This record gives sequence, C-alpha cells and structure tokens, in this order.
Amino acid sequence: MTKTWMITGTSSGFGKELAQVVAKQAGTNLVATARKEADLAYLDAFDATRVAKVIMDVTNEEQVQAGVAVAKDKFGGIDVLVNNAGLGYFGTIEESNEKDVRQMFEVNVFGLGNVTKSVLPIMRVQKQGVIINISSALGVTSLPTLGWYSATKFAVEGYSNALRQEVAPLGIQVMNVEPSGARTKWNAGKTAPVEIADYSKFAGMVDGASNGVTQAPGSPELIAKTIFDMATDNKVVPDHLPLGTFATDGMKKELTNTLKDVDKYHDISVGIDQ
Ligand SMILES: NC(=O)c1ccc[n+]([C@@H]2O[C@H](COP(=O)([O-])OP(=O)(O)OC[C@H]3O[C@@H](n4cnc5c(N)ncnc54)[C@H](OP(=O)(O)O)[C@@H]3O)[C@@H](O)[C@H]2O)c1
Repeated sequence: MTKTWMITGTSSGFGKELAQVVAKQAGTNLVATARKEADLAYLDAFDATRVAKVIMDVTNEEQVQAGVAVAKDKFGGIDVLVNNAGLGYFGTIEESNEKDVRQMFEVNVFGLGNVTKSVLPIMRVQKQGVIINISSALGVTSLPTLGWYSATKFAVEGYSNALRQEVAPLGIQVMNVEPSGARTKWNAGKTAPVEIADYSKFAGMVDGASNGVTQAPGSPELIAKTIFDMATDNKVVPDHLPLGTFATDGMKKELTNTLKDVDKYHDISVGIDQ
C-alpha cells in the first residue's frame, strides 16, 4: 500500500533529509512543508505526481489547515505525520529573553499541536496512522543553558505520552524521537549571552552554540534514514527512539536517577494517600 508522509520543516536539517529519503522511496507520497517556497526547490528533482510542496508556518492555523487539505485532496490521506519543525535557544534560565522563549514554545509545542490537531481527524477516519514527534534527548534529560529549550521538549514528551494513550484504541501510534546533537542549522539559533558573573562558567556553552553546526556527532542523514526505517519496517513503532550516544547515556542516567528517588522515597510517597 502506498504510504503518504507529511513532514514539517523540510527546508533544512532532519526534515530536508527525511523528505529526500521519502521522495526517493517507491510506494510513498510526500507532503513536504516549509515556510518559504524557494526552500522546497530541491524537491523538483523527484516525481511531482508523488510530491506535494506546501507553504506552512506551523504557528499559522490557516496555513496548517490548508496544507493538510492539500494532502487529503492530492493523496487521499496522511499515513505518517512527522512533526519536525522546531527552534533552538541557548541561555541560562535567568538570562533568557521571555519573548524569544515564548516564540520557541509557539513553534516547538503549540505549532506541533496545531498540525497534529488538523491531521488527527483524517487518521481517525482511516483508523490508522503514525505520528512521529521530533522531541530531543533534552526532552528527557537537561543541560545548563538549554533549560527553556528542554522545557519545550519535555512538553512535547508529556503531550505525546498522553496522546498515545488517547489514540492507541483508534489505531494511531505516537513515537517520540529523541536525537542527540546533530549537524544541522539548529545549533545556530538564538542565544542569550551570559552576562551575570555568577553564571560565567556557562558562557562558553552559549558562545559556542553555533559550533554544533559543524561539530556535533550526529549525522542528519543517518537520523533521517533511521526514522524512516523505524516507521516502515515495524508494524508497531517504539514509544521512544533515542538517537546518538548522548541520548542513550543521558536519558539512561536521568531515568536511573529519577528511579533512585522514586525508590528511596517510596514509603513517604505512598504514605500521603489516606
Ligand atoms: N540538530 C540537533 O542537534 C537536534 C537534536 C535534537 C532535536 N532536534 C530537533 O529536530 C528538529 C529539526 O531541527 P534541525 O536540527 O533539523 O534544525 P534546522 O535545520 O534548523 O531545521 C529546523 C526546521 O524547522 C523549521 N521551522 C522553524 N520555525 C518554523 C515555523 N514557525 N513553522 C514551520 N517551520 C519552522 C525551519 O524552517 P526555516 O528554514 O524556515 O527556519 C527548519 O525547516 C527540531 O524540532 C529540533 O528541535 C535537533
């Protein structure tokens, strides 16, 4: 059966890599979304009957609804939705700019919610579908200067974990992908430089944020291929897909530490239920 994929944020990074993997594959249709038409020109190399280019800012509800309608009209539905569009931000919690942080929440959390809400009615009628939310290793663990970014991805994790339970009986699956640092434009996003002397030991992390563009270990090509294979080879997708050494080690450490406290304070915890 031909599968239709809709991917947000395909102008660069993981989204662009994944769009090309899907477009190359026989037996798939692709709805690739980006904010600027010119950023989708690379898709002209592929079979136009199987590719729809859609202008979509995920924070713009009208554009989201129109984009989802294109998928339905051209291909009859959406089998796999990849909520990939997202922003990064580096800064200590205290020094972060509230306007920038709110904008990041608009894209990473509410934008993802907009797209999902528009696609769910289609998947419910189909009685099948896979929703892939590109979270982050920082959606499970956290690092200094990435606290607000991490907060957006923790929000994605909580949202996804609830959504999974709501839609599983309807035949719809939800997978959270948790990549480590990878060589995309993401790391070159906005920053709040460290100016408070008490946080000076974190200045290098903020100043060096854009180094990730060239120096992060993760390969966007391999990440895209792994996500595609995971959603194609398995009837049941995993709830969580950590990708990269930091994701595996960092998430394990975080969950182990959490479990330690859960076990240590077990009696106090259950004791408050009376
Ligand atoms: N790279 C990493 O180290 C890493 C690790 C873990 C998770 N992630 C997550 O992976 C996802 C993809 O990021 P990436 O690393 O591939 O970075 P990227 O190259 O910067 O790609 C981000 C994509 O999101 C799009 N986008 C931003 N704001 C948008 C909006 N309002 N509406 C629609 N699209 C919007 C960008 O479009 P424009 O070109 O128009 O800005 C771009 O296509 C993000 O959710 C990111 O948080 C990245």
